[in-house]
Amino acid sequence: SRTVDRAADGAATVAGIPVTRLAEEHGTPAIFLDEDDFRARCRAWADAFAGADVFYAGKAFLSRAVVRWLTEEGLNLDVCSGGELAVALSAGMPADRIAMHGNNKSNAEIERAVEAGVGRIVLDSYQEIVRVAHIAQRLGKTQRVQIRVTVGVEAHTHEFIATAHEDQKFGLALADGVAAEAVRRVLKLDGLELVGIHSHIGSQIFDMAGFEVSARRVVGLLREIRDEHGIELPEIDLGGGLGIAYTTDDDPREPHEIAKALGDIVSRECTAAGLAQPRLSVEPGRAIVGPTAFTLYEVGTVKELDGIRTYVSVDGGMSDNIRTALYDADYTVALVSRASDAPPMLSRVVGKHCESGDIVVRDAYLPSDLAPGDLLAVPATGAYCRSMASNYNHQLKPPVVAVKDGEARVIVRRETEEDLLRLDVG
Ligand code: LLP
Repeated sequence: SRTVDRAADGAATVAGIPVTRLAEEHGTPAIFLDEDDFRARCRAWADAFAGADVFYAGKAFLSRAVVRWLTEEGLNLDVCSGGELAVALSAGMPADRIAMHGNNKSNAEIERAVEAGVGRIVLDSYQEIVRVAHIAQRLGKTQRVQIRVTVGVEAHTHEFIATAHEDQKFGLALADGVAAEAVRRVLKLDGLELVGIHSHIGSQIFDMAGFEVSARRVVGLLREIRDEHGIELPEIDLGGGLGIAYTTDDDPREPHEIAKALGDIVSRECTAAGLAQPRLSVEPGRAIVGPTAFTLYEVGTVKELDGIRTYVSVDGGMSDNIRTALYDADYTVALVSRASDAPPMLSRVVGKHCESGDIVVRDAYLPSDLAPGDLLAVPATGAYCRSMASNYNHQLKPPVVAVKDGEARVIVRRETEEDLLRLDVG
C-alpha cells in the first residue's frame, strides 16, 4: 500500500488517520483498505490492457463497494459462484461485464447467470457444455461461452513445470485432444456461442515463462480450430495469477510490463499462424486488491520462550488470515501504535484459535518492549484473507473499512454474535 506515515506520538497514520483512532472507532481485528490505491490499480490494469479486457477476480475480495469501484473504473468482473454473482448484480454491475467461472456450477447458478445475461460463461467440463446449452435453449437465449483449457503448465512462484497431462480438477486438457473434442461438442449445440479459449495457470506468479507457454498453446488451439472448423475465435483469456510483494523478496511486475509481454507473444504467435489478432483479456485478483489493505490487530499476551522465540498473540488469526497456515505464506508485521527503540526480538505472531498452526506471521522481529494493548499491522492482506475468513471457534469475522481522504467508511461490517446465533436454528 502507500507509505504509512508516523504522527508526532509515533503512531502510524493511514490516509491521514492515526491507526490508534482507527482501532478505537472500528475495533480490532479489522481490515483497512485504501480506496484510492484500489482505484489506481484498476486504472493501471485498464490502461495497460487498452483494447482488451480486465476481469477483476472477485474471489480475492468482493463487496458491493468494490463492485461499484470496478464499475466506475471500467473493469469487468470474474465471479465463480452464485454468491459472488449475487453481490455483483445487487451492486449494479452490468451483467454483460461479468464472466462466470467454476468447475462445478449448479444448474441454479447457470440458470441465474444465463437469465441475467452474463457476458460469458467459462465452460469447465463435458457435462457442463450440455447443461449450459440446455438451460440457454430453455430460456430462449444464446450464451457466449469460452472453454477453459489446461495447457500442461503448472506455474509456481519462480518456476514452471511442464507436465504432459495436468492432474487437477479444472478445465479441459489440451493433451489427448480433450479440449479439441470440447470445441466440437460446443459447436454442435444450439444455445452456445463459442467466443474464445481460457487458461489460468496458477497464482502468485512472478515468472512470465509460464504465461508464455500458456499463450503459445492457446494460440495453437485457435489454429487447430481454424483448420478443423474454418472459424477464428475472437477471444483469448490468460487468467490471473500475477504475484504481489508480501515481503521484500518478492518482485512484482507492473501491469504494463505484463500487458506488453502477453500481447507480444499472442501477437507473434497469431501472425505466425496466420490468425487475426484475438481480443486478449486477463483476470487479476490479488494484484489489484492484495496490496491495498492491511489488517490491524491488538496484542493480547506476550510469551517469551527462553532461547527460542517470543509468541505474540493477537485478537484474530487463522479465521481472518488462513494463508499462513494453508500455504505457509509469508507476511511482515510492524508495531504501529507507538514508536519503540527497544532491541528487536525474534517473534511469532499467532492468533487466538485452538490450533498450534494458527500462525499469522511465522518469523518477525518486533520490539522487545511489546506489551498487551499494542497495535500490530500486517500489510498486503487485501486478497484471500477476508474472502477466505471463517467462523472457527465462533470467532466473528472482521470488518473491512475503506479509508480515503482522511475518512474511514465501513464497507463490510464486523459480524456480531447475533449474526452467528441467527443461523443456529436448532
Ligand atoms: N482466474 C481464475 C480462473 C482463477 O482461478 C483465479 C484464482 C484468478 C483468476 C485470480 O488469481 P489471482 O490473480 O488473484 O492470483 N486462495 C489462494 C489463491 C487461489 C486462487 C484461485 N484462483 C491464495 O490465497 O493465495
